[in-house]
Amino acid sequence: MQQERSPFQQLADLLAGKAPGLSALDLTLGEPKHAMPSFIQAVIDEHAADFRRYPPIRGTEDFRNAVAHWIAQRYQTGPLISAEKHILPLNGTREGLFHAAIGARDWAKNKPAKDMSNPAILLPNPFYHAYAAGAHAMGAEAVYLNGTKDSNHLPDLTALAKQTELLDRTIAFYYASPANPQGTAADLADWQQLIALARKHHFMIFADECYSEIYRERPPTGILEACKGDLSNIVTFHSLSKRSNLAGLRCGFAAGDEAFLTQWTKYRNMAAPQVPLPLLAAAAAAYRDEAHVEENRRLYNEKYDQASQILSTDFTYQRPEGGFFLWLDIRQFGSDIAVTEKLWKEVGVKVIPGSFLARKNAQGINPGEHFIRLALVAPLQETSTALTRLKDCLIENKTLESEE
Ligand SMILES: Cc1ncc(COP(=O)(O)O)c(C=O)c1O
Repeated sequence: MQQERSPFQQLADLLAGKAPGLSALDLTLGEPKHAMPSFIQAVIDEHAADFRRYPPIRGTEDFRNAVAHWIAQRYQTGPLISAEKHILPLNGTREGLFHAAIGARDWAKNKPAKDMSNPAILLPNPFYHAYAAGAHAMGAEAVYLNGTKDSNHLPDLTALAKQTELLDRTIAFYYASPANPQGTAADLADWQQLIALARKHHFMIFADECYSEIYRERPPTGILEACKGDLSNIVTFHSLSKRSNLAGLRCGFAAGDEAFLTQWTKYRNMAAPQVPLPLLAAAAAAYRDEAHVEENRRLYNEKYDQASQILSTDFTYQRPEGGFFLWLDIRQFGSDIAVTEKLWKEVGVKVIPGSFLARKNAQGINPGEHFIRLALVAPLQETSTALTRLKDCLIENKTLESEE
């Protein structure tokens, strides 16, 4: 089992000692830079006295009610989600996704498995590193599933269905939609296929939907729309970090399978970080407001329009259905690592090589190696300067000293 290294650490090592060619423009971190909702500060101030108190691991009724209402509205699920039974706050989804692997191990003790000496956790490839860290921490084999064009760059579930030995020892599957970094989203049929596999082979689905509200034309279908009123084997993860530009608030939620959540809560009550009460109040207020989310989407979509104008004639480039990344095919210019170094050294644009976000799968293929990831999180002007520099550097090899 291999210890994971963060892609950001790998990038720091790659660029160590190398100066940027122009003033640095950082497109690496998926940290939103749009304004946070204007009402957040006032809610925190109003509840500030509660910083004195230890927060309950299940959060407050107010928070759970706000989330249950939001889910019902967003996914048209009616009374499927009960605020009492099916919702847990998370101190950011990163910790939740990580700790979920430990929950899966405890839950899998009920699995009617033939041989559980080598449990597996399935991951998309590329993947968010908390998934791999979770698999590593609980001693499971992390199995990296590359997407294909036919599977819309999401894990190929039809190919997976044939791997029954693997599925029988699988305890959990982290499945991200919209995916980071590709921005592709599962449709109803994908979710239904995934749920059928999970129920047949008795594993948990951890659906990472933290980019669900950052979409282009239409809202991505969620797993809760595909579950036909039955939450078993399903936990979905949502976050305010991207939806509401509140990455520092550290608040999201897990919703789904009551039996899993009840058991996981016992573990979380001993080991997981709670969300402070004033921050739960602010998070509830954020879930009750959609106006700031609509404005957020508008700002991102404006940047995608600009990106198309700058890049689409020269690059193989797909406008992603969701999320705020560009997953740019750069194979015509060299390896992802060579291109990353060139962009930094010549024009000060910092990007992440795709191969740092993925792993070689069992067939030895790293699906990220022909790509770089660009986060379009900065304001329009800064993003557009960075993309123009990138294009000029790679396509036209212009001298850019006089640009600014
Ligand atoms: C795919 C994915 N999942 C989960 C997270 C975690 O977000 P947070 O812990 O801020 O909720 C991120 C953050 O970048 C992400 O990209």
